[in-house]
Amino acid sequence: MAEQRDETKAIRIQSDRTHEKEHSTPMYLTSSFVFDDAEEMRTTFAAEREGNIYSRFTNPNVKEFVDKMVALEGVEAGYATATGMAAVFASIAALLKTGDHILVCRSIFGSSHTVFTKILPKWGITHTYVSIDDQDSWESAVEENSKMLFIETPSNPAVDLVDMEKAGKLAKKHGLIFNVDNCFSTPAIQKPVEFSADIIIHSATKYLDGQGRVMGGVVLGRKDLIDEVYTFCRSTGPAISPFNAWVLSKSLETLYLRMERHSENALKLAKYLEAHPGVEIVKYPFLLSHPQYEIAQKQMKSGGGIVSFKIKGELKDGVDFLNNLKMCSLTANLGDTRTIVSHPASTTHAKLTEDERLSVGITPNLLRISVGLENIIDIIADIDQAIIAK
Ligand SMILES: Cc1ncc(COP(=O)(O)O)c(C=O)c1O
Repeated sequence: MAEQRDETKAIRIQSDRTHEKEHSTPMYLTSSFVFDDAEEMRTTFAAEREGNIYSRFTNPNVKEFVDKMVALEGVEAGYATATGMAAVFASIAALLKTGDHILVCRSIFGSSHTVFTKILPKWGITHTYVSIDDQDSWESAVEENSKMLFIETPSNPAVDLVDMEKAGKLAKKHGLIFNVDNCFSTPAIQKPVEFSADIIIHSATKYLDGQGRVMGGVVLGRKDLIDEVYTFCRSTGPAISPFNAWVLSKSLETLYLRMERHSENALKLAKYLEAHPGVEIVKYPFLLSHPQYEIAQKQMKSGGGIVSFKIKGELKDGVDFLNNLKMCSLTANLGDTRTIVSHPASTTHAKLTEDERLSVGITPNLLRISVGLENIIDIIADIDQAIIAK
């Protein structure tokens, strides 16, 4: 049979059926697995044969979720973690050591920023922030001990883009591990491996679940690198719960459909906001006015579900807008079926200094919308009345 399309793989990749011949994969809520005899136990522990030992190491539900993500991202191997931040940390801590240096694109999620600035320096792993606006300058930041290039595209929350082709070439030239946080796009929209990514990480809490239910993360990439991640995680313990992995594997069955509708709704909302007199500026990768529209066309199939915009006025206008919303949720998550509006300066990026926030475009009047799957007429109606009433 010809190789299946990704949409089909997201649905059809499945663990082996049990003797019950169930259609849908059952949950394997067990901490450990039994052996028929001492020799089977010895050889499994010694990795002389394949087999589950303990759910901190492997579990059938986790394996199914990881197998799907490996296939969808087009990589060799993966390891699932309890959260996206565990995936971010494991992808660095497992692969780098004291004295190593990382090039980090400055436009990243707030907690990742804390990892680079407060946690990794404790172990002597240093970083240099490079600007998303000037990718040509990145090479001058490479040092003799640079080992990794870490990026997020589109970035959270400003929806800026990194040219992955250019970044991948730079990483190759200097032997850097190219690590891409693909949380905002998912493999349904872009595949970093096509641009030489060595490691791809996800917060599965976002679009991979897509319904705001469970936390999760996954580190994917080259087998030799993922072997290191596995060894690190097996002993340090950031494993995902089998229940969460079961939910996530089910969620992936609808990923491609959901991402299509998220993108369709987001583009309609972005166009609407662009024409609104109460709005200063809108950023969305598939709007012609996005400064990196050409890059979006090159590496993304659609614009994704996140729109950022600046409301006309000051901080108070942004706060009034949020308080006026009647349907959209004020919550920390993104990538849900339900439209979510957040104010990055006072929430996800509050730990950055004001200068740091401004350097990545987070002004007090910046708002981030994770556009959901409700009827777009209802989404626009709620946002419209909230702008008008402010
Ligand atoms: C781009 C990005 N990476 C990583 C994370 C962290 O994921 P989690 O909350 O699952 O730990 C987030 C969370 O918002 C994110 O937006």
